[in-house]
This record gives sequence, structure tokens and C-alpha cells, in this order.
Amino acid sequence: MNVGLKTLILSAGAAAVRSAARCLAEGGLVAFPTETVYGLGADATNAAAIARLYAAKGRPAFNPLIAHVGDIASARRIARFDAQATRLAEAFWPGPLTLVLPKATDCPVAELATAGLETIAIRVPAHPVALEILRAFGGPVVAPSANLSGHVSPTTAAHVQSDLAGRIDLIVDGGPVEVGVESTIVGCFEQPTLLRPGGLPRGEIERVLGRTLRQPPEDAGGDTGQPLAPGMLASHYAPRTPVRLQADNVEPGEALLAFGPDAVAGVDAATTVLNLSARGDLDEAAANLFGYLRALDVSGARAIAVMPVPHHGLGEAINDRLRRAAVERE
Ligand code: TXA
Ligand code: MG
Repeated sequence: MNVGLKTLILSAGAAAVRSAARCLAEGGLVAFPTETVYGLGADATNAAAIARLYAAKGRPAFNPLIAHVGDIASARRIARFDAQATRLAEAFWPGPLTLVLPKATDCPVAELATAGLETIAIRVPAHPVALEILRAFGGPVVAPSANLSGHVSPTTAAHVQSDLAGRIDLIVDGGPVEVGVESTIVGCFEQPTLLRPGGLPRGEIERVLGRTLRQPPEDAGGDTGQPLAPGMLASHYAPRTPVRLQADNVEPGEALLAFGPDAVAGVDAATTVLNLSARGDLDEAAANLFGYLRALDVSGARAIAVMPVPHHGLGEAINDRLRRAAVERE
């Protein structure tokens, strides 16, 4: 465990990009902004660095990682693209879409990063700082969200610092992220499958494919061992405070995570109120989601009541993360 490291924090810029690339090349751990959430990067070909990454996150080692690359050509060196995958990559990269593809024969990514699977998850992130770091480093970078395992994903450098200071080498601060929920993950199997709803709405993907995405089984990622998307662990996104969904009132001692312009009964007695989007905008709500969950989690409320969020567009990803946040833990 690498607790006790000195974690350097640099503002995004040419010097930070150079430091990040050098640190990755030396097997270090670098947190950097992507358009979805902050990622914790390590050299995808360096098993020792990846082992340190799992230790820093306190993440179960069976959870495979996403390889981040700077462009489609780099992605083709590590995975096999069929026509369908090519169409998705060309339509949405750089952007908040991760493709799960068969590994290329000479895939240089360490087995540890793919948890021994024959497939690999890849994306080209759209954030300029992420792209500059990837291009300066010149190889694939695995990057899970830069939070401790079981915490919500970080959308600012301060979130990263509060979870990982002393455990990683460098944080590149590029300001708050734009999208706020993780990438959408599509398994490019015979039937393309939505493995995780995320920052790219399902409808846009289905429009490009000209067919509907298959839904994985409800319990994927449960306790069955080798699931379709191991990251679908039931309580992946977990505030410490109990979360009550579909709330149409606020009970004594509860904080309220609101959505939209309407008030709910008991709101005046709420310990704290944060509105994901007072004007009912789902993109704005996604960007606020993890930061507000963190803020309400430490606000001292007995529970967090969450108003209903519509299920279209980014609402599907928001509701997925809220459902996970609400799973009872011992
Ligand atoms: O937006 C994002 O995707 C962020 C930023 C940093 O890029 N990253 C992220 O990574 O959310 P992480 O590690 O928190 O989630 C990766 C997900 C997990 O659910 C994992 O199980 C799934 O990707 N995954 C990785 N490789 C896979 C594979 N070969 N087959 C199925 N699922 C895979
Ligand atoms: Mg994560």
C-alpha cells in the first residue's frame, strides 16, 4: 500500500502534461481530468504500476480497467474492430463511449488490467488535458475513476485529493469536469450490449447502429464471479448515508437531493437541499450528481431523500448511479 506518498498537485498546462507523461513512464500514478470524471492513470503495459493502482484505490483486483488512448489508430493496436465497432468509434470518439472488444493478438496491455479477460475496454476521452497527456505519453493508459473503491466518482481535483492524497504521485487539476457521469460502455458482441449506461445516451448509439442495444441481465456483476461487466457491482457508488429514492416528501432529519422546479412536502424541514437542476435539465443534473451526493453525504443528515429523475437521455445513467448509491450496505 502506498499511503505516505507525497502527492504533487499541478494546474493543467504544458508543464503538468510533461510531468504526467514522465510519471506514467516511470510507473507512477497520475490523476487527470476526462470529460466524464477524473481518472487515475497508470501505464497499461506495466503490471507493477497497475498493481499499485489497485492498491491505491483499494479496488477488488477482479475489476478490469478501461484503456485510454489518444486516437482510433492507437486503439486498433490493442483491440480488434469489426464494422460495427468502427462505426461507433468514428461517430463518438473522442467522447464518453467505451467499447468492449476482442483483444488484438499482440495486445501489449498487461493481463492484470483486463483481469484475464479475452476482451478489452477502450476509449478515447474528449478532454483536451487527457488527450495531451495520452499523446505525450504515447501508449495506452488504464484509468478507473480516481476515487477510493466504493466512493462516488470525482468530478473535481479536490474530490480526488480528498480520496487519494498520499496514495498517488500526481494530480493534474483541470477544473470541474463537463459530463459528470462515467462513459457509456457498449460490449461489441454479436448483439451489441449496453454494459453500463453513461455519458452518451443510449438513443444516440442506437441511431448510429440502426438497432437497439441488448440489456445485460439485471444481476450482472452481482456475486456470480465472471459477469458481463464486472463493474456492475451492486453497490459500486456508495455514499455512507442511506439514500431514499423516488421521494415525494422529506422526512425529519433528511437532506433533499432535488430535481426540477417543483417543491415536495416537508422541504422546509430538510437539513440541506441541493437541486441537481432547478430547470429540469438532465445534462446539468449529471454534471452535479456526484459532487452533490458527496456534499450531502458529509452534511450530517440521517438520510438523503432523492426526488424522481426522468429516465430519458442522461437520465438513464443518473438513475443507474442513484440506484447503486441506494443499495443497502452493512
Ligand atoms: O468515464 C469513464 O469511463 C471513467 C473515466 C476515467 O474514463 N472511467 C471509469 O473506469 O469509469 P472504471 O474503472 O471506474 O469503470 C470501468 C468499467 C467497470 O465497470 C469495468 O467492469 C468495465 O469498465 N470493464 C472494463 N473492462 C471490461 C471488459 N473487458 N468487459 C466488460 N466490462 C469491462
Ligand atoms: Mg469507478
